[in-house]
Amino acid sequence: MNRIENRPSFCLLNGKLPQEIFSVLPTPCYIIEEAGLQKNGEILSSIIRNTGCKILLAQKAFSNYDFYPLLSDYLSGTEASGLFEARLGAEKMPKKEVHVFCAAYREKEFDELLTYADHIVFNSPGQLKRFGPKAKEIGKSIGLRINPQCSTQEGHAIYDPCAPTSRLGTTREIWDMQMTEELVELLDGLHFHTLCEQDADALQLTLHAVEEQFADILPRMKWLNMGGGHHITREGYDIPLLEKLIIGVQNQWNVEVYLEPGEAVALNAGYLAARVLDIVQNHDTKIAILDVSAACHMPDVIEMPYTPPLYGEISEKEGAYSYILAGPTCLAGDVIGRYCFEQPLQIGDMILFGDMAIYSTCKNNTFNGMSLPNIWKRGTDGKLEQLTDFGYQDFSMRLGRRKSDISKKN
Ligand SMILES: Cc1ncc(COP(=O)(O)O)c(C=O)c1O
Repeated sequence: MNRIENRPSFCLLNGKLPQEIFSVLPTPCYIIEEAGLQKNGEILSSIIRNTGCKILLAQKAFSNYDFYPLLSDYLSGTEASGLFEARLGAEKMPKKEVHVFCAAYREKEFDELLTYADHIVFNSPGQLKRFGPKAKEIGKSIGLRINPQCSTQEGHAIYDPCAPTSRLGTTREIWDMQMTEELVELLDGLHFHTLCEQDADALQLTLHAVEEQFADILPRMKWLNMGGGHHITREGYDIPLLEKLIIGVQNQWNVEVYLEPGEAVALNAGYLAARVLDIVQNHDTKIAILDVSAACHMPDVIEMPYTPPLYGEISEKEGAYSYILAGPTCLAGDVIGRYCFEQPLQIGDMILFGDMAIYSTCKNNTFNGMSLPNIWKRGTDGKLEQLTDFGYQDFSMRLGRRKSDISKKN
């Protein structure tokens, strides 16, 4: 843990050791870096300036609303996956656009949804027929998600909306069978989301498929939303190609272009700090049990799966101290990964995982009665501020009757 880290996940520490900065924080905790969000925001807003497109925050990836005032300086608005995210976007990033896409809307939520969202994207001609006229009547901008059936990611079906049997988006075949002229008339735009952590070359391929399949429809549209999955703020991402593609689409089809990245907004803008609780051994393998859980606090590690960057890890070599880092839950598979260190780990050591602002705080859970790590902000001035105060109530309130409900009944 004594090496100076300059990987993108840790470069905002400016060469300081995590202990120097974070040792005062009770672990586990997430720390979100304002400077990281600013850095990403500047890249995204320069694309908006250079092309005239609009970029929304996909809240499914990052919805720590204490940072929305900062992000709203850079972004055009928020994208939601349903009622609650739409409300969060409308309330916490006011005066900005609120877009929503959901695979299927519920009748009982739709009226309230209309009070928050200004762009509503449907997944199927059936949903468009059911809810579209009402939304259109009160002036909402209406879209349909299409599935261009252009897979650009291999061996990653869980994150590929173009995988065979995908339920996400309307294929041209289904469009031809189910889209009446009346339904097409309702539409202001088309939406596609097909990428995951990809570069602009994958977007280029996808756009080609979209333009080929929907060339007769695009001239009738006011906007084209190209979804998320654009890893724009990753080092080496081909921004000039992205800008060329956006400008090309605007000129060719006379549409307004939207992007709705999640990861790119908060990439490398946060950490998850943990401590070593115990070190156990099975044959030759040493396993450090931490006070964070992959299953509860970084579920993508298991779901995707991937091994998160860790401060001070070294590559495997002779003499390196190798450990499996794992969570304290009962799940045998609650394993974060195998890591090597220069020095042996000790009980109480601080461990810092990188790139933990995305798909973490908005996706965690309290399985096994694990507590939710508190969320801290590290301001651009380096000051730490605690944003949450999670405790037993946050675990128990989701599992049964709340005190207030009981007293109402009695
Ligand atoms: C419809 C839609 N838009 C945007 C996103 C954001 O994707 P990312 O966080 O990979 O940029 C997703 C992610 O699943 C999505 O499903």
